[in-house]
Amino acid sequence: MSKKSSAAAQKAKATLDAAKTAREAVSVSRKKSSKKTSAASAVSAAPAAELAFDTLCLQGGYSPKFGEPRVLPIIQSTTYKYDDIDHVNRIMTLQAFGHKYSRTSNPTVAGFEARVNLLEGGAGAIATASGQAATLLATTAIVREGDHILAASQLYGGTYTLFHSTLKRFGVRASFFDPNAPAREIEKLFRPETRLVFGETIGNPGLAILDFGKLSALAKAHGVPLIVDNTLATPFLCQPLKHGANIVINSATKYMDGHATSVGGIVVDGGNFDWANGLFPEFTSPDPTYNGVIYAEKFPASPFLYKARAQSLRDFGGCLSPMNAFLINLGLETLHLRMPRHGDNALALAKFLSAHPKVTWVNYPGLETASKKLVARYFRKDNAGGILTFGLKGGLDAIRRFVKALKVAALVVHVGDARTSVLHPASSTHAQLTEQEQRAAGILPDMVRVSVGIEDPADLIADFEQAIAAAV
Ligand SMILES: Cc1ncc(COP(=O)(O)O)c(C=O)c1O
Repeated sequence: MSKKSSAAAQKAKATLDAAKTAREAVSVSRKKSSKKTSAASAVSAAPAAELAFDTLCLQGGYSPKFGEPRVLPIIQSTTYKYDDIDHVNRIMTLQAFGHKYSRTSNPTVAGFEARVNLLEGGAGAIATASGQAATLLATTAIVREGDHILAASQLYGGTYTLFHSTLKRFGVRASFFDPNAPAREIEKLFRPETRLVFGETIGNPGLAILDFGKLSALAKAHGVPLIVDNTLATPFLCQPLKHGANIVINSATKYMDGHATSVGGIVVDGGNFDWANGLFPEFTSPDPTYNGVIYAEKFPASPFLYKARAQSLRDFGGCLSPMNAFLINLGLETLHLRMPRHGDNALALAKFLSAHPKVTWVNYPGLETASKKLVARYFRKDNAGGILTFGLKGGLDAIRRFVKALKVAALVVHVGDARTSVLHPASSTHAQLTEQEQRAAGILPDMVRVSVGIEDPADLIADFEQAIAAAV
C-alpha cells in the first residue's frame, strides 16, 4: 500500500471509529460499560449515577476512546451502511439495535440523549425537533381516541392549545386544574378514561411551582403516569423523576441550549411506570406495524421509550437534527454555571422591582411564601429559576413605552437565553387564549414576563430603572 493510500485508509478508519464511538454514545461511567449497556445505548444510554451533575453536564453521554474526537462529533448522515439484509431486517423488526435512518436515531443525537438522560436520572431519552414535538411525542405515545388528559391550567400556550383544541380533533379530551388547588379538588376531575396527568415544574408564565407529592400521589392512585415539562427549571434545579414523575419533557430550546441558537426538545422516560396495569392496551396489545410486537412484554424495562421511538418518531417524524443536537449539547456544558446566575440575577431584579413605587406587583417564586416552600422541598440550592413577571402603573400603554425604552434587555419571544428578554404574554405566546383562559393560566393583561439573563445584575437593574422612568 502506498504511503498516500495508507494515510487515506487510516483517516477513513479514524472517521469510522469516531462514528462508532458516538453511535454507541455510552454514558460516562467509572464502571466499564457492559455489553448490555452498549446494546441498549442504540436507543439510549443507561443511567450512570457515579459522577456529579456538573461533570455530567460536560462529559455525560460521550466518552471518546484513544485518538477519538474529544468533542461529540456531528454525524451529518441520514443513513448507515450494512452488509447483509438479514441484519437490516433484525433492526427494522426491533430484534436488534442500530441506527438505520436519522429520523429514528442518529449518533450525535444519541450522545445528546444520553447526556440529558443522565442529568434527569432517567432510563432513556428521545430527542425531538422542538419542545412541542416532545410533548406531542410523549402524550400521543400513550393516548388513543376517547382518552382524557388532565393537565395543569398554568401551561405554555402551545401546550394548552395542543391539549385543548388540536388533540380534540383526534378524539382526545383534556381538562385543566389549578396546580395550587387542594388534592380533593383535582381528584374530582379524573375520569375513567383519564390516561395521564401533565404539569410544568414552573408554570410558564404563571410561575406556580408543581407540588410533586400531591400530583404524583393522585396520578398513582388512578394508575396513570405523571408527565412533567421541566423546561423552566431544567434538571439542574429540579429532577422530577426523583419526586414521583414518570416522564419528563424539556424544551431544549430554552436553558439547555441557553444561547438562543437552536430549537429542540427531549423526552426522558423514568422507566418507573407499570404500563401493564390494564389501562394501557397501547402497550399490552400487539402493534401490527411492528410484526405484532407487544411493547410491555418485549421491552419490560422501558416500554414507553421503545414504543415512542419505534412507532411515534417513525410516524410523526419530529426528530432532532444532528447539527442542533451538537449545538444544544454544547450549551448543556455550561448549564450548571448558568443556572445559579440566572437565579441570583432574577432574585436581585425581583427585589428591586418589588421596592419600586411604579411597579404594581411582582411574581417570583423565590419571593412568594407558598412557592418558596415548594422550591425548598423540590429544588436544589433554593434557586427559584430565572423567570419573573410584574405589572406597571399605567397598564398596557406604560408597558408599550417600557419595552421600547429598554437598552440591555430585549423584546424577544423566548425564555432561557443567556441574554435578558422581556415579553407581554397576553398578546404573544398566549394570544390565542380567551381572557378567562389566560387568567386560569396565571396571565394578567398587564403582565410583563422577564427571562432574566446572566449579565451583570447592576446593568439589568439600571436598564429597568431607566425604562420604567421613561414609561410611567
Ligand atoms: C414551558 C415550555 N414548554 C414547551 C415549550 C415549547 O418549546 P419549543 O418552542 O421548543 O417547541 C415552551 C416554549 O416556550 C415552553 O416555554
